Amino acid sequence: MALTPKLTALFAAGVLAAFAAGAASAAGMPSKINGPHAKLPCSTCHKNEMTAPPKETCLSCHGSYDKLAERTAKLTPNPHFSHRGEEDCTNCHSLHGKSRLECNDCHSFNLNFKW
Ligand code: HEC
Ligand code: HEC
Ligand code: HEC
Ligand code: HEC
Repeated sequence: MALTPKLTALFAAGVLAAFAAGAASAAGMPSKINGPHAKLPCSTCHKNEMTAPPKETCLSCHGSYDKLAERTAKLTPNPHFSHRGEEDCTNCHSLHGKSRLECNDCHSFNLNFKW
């Protein structure tokens, strides 16, 4: 059965939309920002480059490693107080994808992320 002109147009639009989505993911644009950060402007974390910001950017809102360690004091081990020192947050936390516990490059701790 031949497609009506209207269906053909819809089909073409669908192909174009799929193509556009493909182009966006090829450019590596993230489709979401995790947690309470979802509505923050990109420039909050990305000043010049689209790469993981340094810990200072995160700490401008989150205070200090000491404050974070208080918040996670009930976790064993405390991910914010360890022999790794005050490392970059993004060694563990991802803001667009899935976080990973870098401690487990060497250990096998059972700590889970919300995202
Ligand atoms: C503009 C301020 C701001 C910046 C910059 C920011 N955050 Fe947040 N973040 C918040 C707020 C507000 C919350 C919700 C309240 C809270 O948990 O402190 C939050 C919550 C979180 C949470 C807990 C989420 C939850 O659901 O429990 C994590 C983890 C986090 N932020 C990590 C980071 C990391 C890593 C960075 C740097 C890449 C960062 N944040 C940068 C404001 C910010
Ligand atoms: C709260 C901080 C934060 C905000 C806001 C944020 N990003 Fe990111 N961005 C990061 C971090 C951290 C990374 C490192 C990779 C990761 O965590 O997933 C990153 C990485 C990227 C990358 C590199 C590709 C990748 O996924 O690794 C691109 C592109 C990017 N961000 C674009 C954006 C755009 C566009 C916005 C606004 C819609 C935005 N970011 C908002 C923190 C942020
Ligand atoms: C590059 C490898 C490496 C990474 C990454 C690493 N550790 Fe360790 N960690 C070690 C080594 C080596 C020891 C000493 C082992 C020993 O003597 O028992 C150790 C010892 C420890 C100990 C005391 C011994 C124990 O197992 O109870 C704790 C707690 C600990 N690490 C927590 C952490 C935390 C939390 C992180 C992530 C923030 C982390 N480590 C990341 C290598 C690592
Ligand atoms: C060694 C890995 C690691 C590093 C590095 C790290 N975190 Fe976390 N963080 C965790 C884990 C694990 C949790 C608990 C699981 C969760 O909330 O997703 C957590 C929880 C949090 C929370 C929520 C605390 C709450 O009240 O529940 C915030 C906010 C946070 N981290 C911010 C940061 C910031 C900002 C940095 C950098 C200054 C940082 N973290 C560095 C592993 C890490």
